[in-house]
Amino acid sequence: MVVEILFLCRLGRVMDIEKLHAECLLAPLTDAMFKNACASLNERFTIQRNRLTGYGTDDGLVSAYTAFYMPTNMKKLSFVLDRLSRLPLKEDTPLEVIDFGCGPGTFGFALYDILQSGDINALASTPIVRYHFVDTAPGMLRQAKKIQQHLYPQMDALFTTSVPAAKQHPEQRLVLLGNVANEMNTTALEMLLKELAADVLVFVEPGTRASFVQMRSLRAGLLAEGYRIVYPCPTQEACPLNGGGDDWCHQVLKASLEPAVARLGQLAGLDRTVMPFIGHVYTRSQTRSQLAELRQSALLFRLKTHSKHAFFWEVCMATQEGLQLKKVELPKRSHSRQAQKALEHVCAGQRIRFEVEKTLGNGTLRIRNVEVT
Ligand SMILES: C[S@@+](CC[C@H](N)C(=O)[O-])C[C@H]1O[C@@H](n2cnc3c(N)ncnc32)[C@H](O)[C@@H]1O
Repeated sequence: MVVEILFLCRLGRVMDIEKLHAECLLAPLTDAMFKNACASLNERFTIQRNRLTGYGTDDGLVSAYTAFYMPTNMKKLSFVLDRLSRLPLKEDTPLEVIDFGCGPGTFGFALYDILQSGDINALASTPIVRYHFVDTAPGMLRQAKKIQQHLYPQMDALFTTSVPAAKQHPEQRLVLLGNVANEMNTTALEMLLKELAADVLVFVEPGTRASFVQMRSLRAGLLAEGYRIVYPCPTQEACPLNGGGDDWCHQVLKASLEPAVARLGQLAGLDRTVMPFIGHVYTRSQTRSQLAELRQSALLFRLKTHSKHAFFWEVCMATQEGLQLKKVELPKRSHSRQAQKALEHVCAGQRIRFEVEKTLGNGTLRIRNVEVT
């Protein structure tokens, strides 16, 4: 019986966190300052969302964000890109990367690390022309620039408050939008997406119901504009969730944190070892065969529970009636202890291929020969 489980983040080269904390922050932070700044940031992100502007102009808040939120957020990009068999880019075509709403440069640096490690089957013949870091907050841009100078001196990077002019043929554009769509209203976001004219769009947003509702409508709009979604949905059909129920589509990354980041998490009382988030990837250049391949795997939508005998999960999969959520049961008996242990650690948001052994009376699919990637 085949059980293939490809684990989580292959994680490229990892940012030097010790150096980030010691040399790169705009303002040195004592533990007490860090704790206060994180409490203020967390309140803005979760409760007082009307105070979302402003944190990017306070060096203390920017530094706390950089020390803690940036390294934890970076891991989410690896999780998303690891779910793609390859980055959906044209070969031999110069690429420019825009990290929009970059903050301290979170996703631009994360992508640089991933690509530098040569670990993703993507860009062998795609030269990267330049990274553009775009943010309206001057403090965030100063922070990103300081990190680039200290940790990424080889990187060709520009720091700007506005979207760079439309690309020149034949370049292609990959745009990263990390935790910024939720800070924008729908009209502004739609105009921005037109202006960005991206070939590939990668979103990483909070794993909340509100973000899901926003991303679901964005998905419909982007598909109507000719984009194809290549993560997390197995097909281009309508999303089976309306956002009104108990559950919504989000990924859950179980991460191991660097000791210095884990210490900050304890200080701030924030657990980032389990991170719900919403990642979406869109492209304009996916071929029919690539879309057909995508359809063969389901999304591991939710891990329900596991008993002595089986794992109980929910998957989002292509069916005759379009995308549907299905309950699945994977018996443990056919797997080695080692495989069972590995299966206990899969995350919502991974892809899963399987065979259906039997449809049970309650509609649950009993599955076998799973491959989780
Ligand atoms: C929560 S931070 C995210 C930073 C980084 N992308 C990350 O995920 O760690 C959101 C950033 O988006 C920026 N931002 C919000 N609205 C923006 C807009 N309309 N144009 C450019 N940047 C914007 C904010 O200044 C802030 O730095």
